[in-house]
Amino acid sequence: MSGSEADRRIPNQRAHTRSRMSIDEKISKTLNDLDAISPEAIGELFGEVTSALESERKALIAAGAGDGRERSQKVKDLRDRWLARKGGLVSLIDENWLKKAPKELKPAVGRAFNQLRQVATCVDTESLLQEVRVQADVPVRLVAHAGVEFTAEVIRGQDLTLPGYRQPMGSIHPVTQVMREIEDIFLGLGFSIESGPEIESVYYNFDALNIPESHPARDDWDTLYVNSETVLRTHTSPVQIRAMEKHGAPLYILCPGKAYRHDNPDSTHATMFHQVEGLAVDRDISFADLKGTLDYFARKFFGDKIKTNFVPSFFPFTEPSGELSISCVFCGGEGCRVCKESGWIEVMGCGMVHPEVLRHGGIDPERYSGWAFGLGVERFAMMKYDINDIQLFHQGDVRFLEQF
Ligand code: DAH
Repeated sequence: MSGSEADRRIPNQRAHTRSRMSIDEKISKTLNDLDAISPEAIGELFGEVTSALESERKALIAAGAGDGRERSQKVKDLRDRWLARKGGLVSLIDENWLKKAPKELKPAVGRAFNQLRQVATCVDTESLLQEVRVQADVPVRLVAHAGVEFTAEVIRGQDLTLPGYRQPMGSIHPVTQVMREIEDIFLGLGFSIESGPEIESVYYNFDALNIPESHPARDDWDTLYVNSETVLRTHTSPVQIRAMEKHGAPLYILCPGKAYRHDNPDSTHATMFHQVEGLAVDRDISFADLKGTLDYFARKFFGDKIKTNFVPSFFPFTEPSGELSISCVFCGGEGCRVCKESGWIEVMGCGMVHPEVLRHGGIDPERYSGWAFGLGVERFAMMKYDINDIQLFHQGDVRFLEQF
């Protein structure tokens, strides 16, 4: 081995030994001992010191302390270990590395040392005390929130003149508000609230509602299938069947809930939206009951000036079927862009429950009859608050939501 090769190997070996030393050991040596004789090696060494400092601080914060006394002790120990004037790691670095650095490396070491000194203030007593949690704090805060009487033991060390934690107030989502308003109107008429699953069987979503697989009307609902027997319900109508099975007749129910469709989102379509379904089943229920009830509902919801109009339509689960229109809430029936100059806006589907549907619900259509309706909640909210984009309801933008 030539002399120059040997020279090159020794520093490498030293560097290797260096990497196995603890940080305290390294600090007890000089830069020369550590073979840190280039600005890069010095940068690396100071980097190691900084990460050791950081991880010791984090470990203390993560561990916390049982009580105030233990916290003070632990904080003091860490502070002294790094910052004590005599024997603290920072001052040892000053002694062993900076002061003993060869002249040409002094500026680099000095710069790194100053940075370290700054970083090391994170373990000074004041800033660290704030970060280390005391276990006993937790019950104190809980008690303070619950408003339970304080015991001397609990309040020790707490400043009771500090203001409490103020939580920003939220508000009820406009869709929920409208849903509740609709519920209230029908609750006042003696209806009760029912709910059903959003992941629904093809049977309840379609077959039981008189929409067999072969029926072209299935295509009216752009269905999201979970598998061949299960769908995300495309409407709240399946709850009609579930409620009939569960309670039998007579039955007056309202079912608010989510529905899903494989629609492209735009200003009037969303893949998830809300519906309210209504169903009344009793002896001698007639179309007049349907008209009277929905007319009453529309006036309650949109105001007394509203007029209603029933237009024939088709739904497989009602016979006859209709669509309820109201006089346009925007122009009062004069004709405008929203009502396409017709003066009327169609607001929901409805009809007399098909005998086959009653039968699927276990109710004898010879003895009972019923009416039903289904409406879109977002659509109602859009009309009520003059909102032109359904997407706004589902984006969670506080600037929109705080207006309600
Ligand atoms: N389920 C229908 C839909 O989603 C709405 C509907 C129409 C519900 C007529 C009914 C009804 O209960 O009778 O489009």
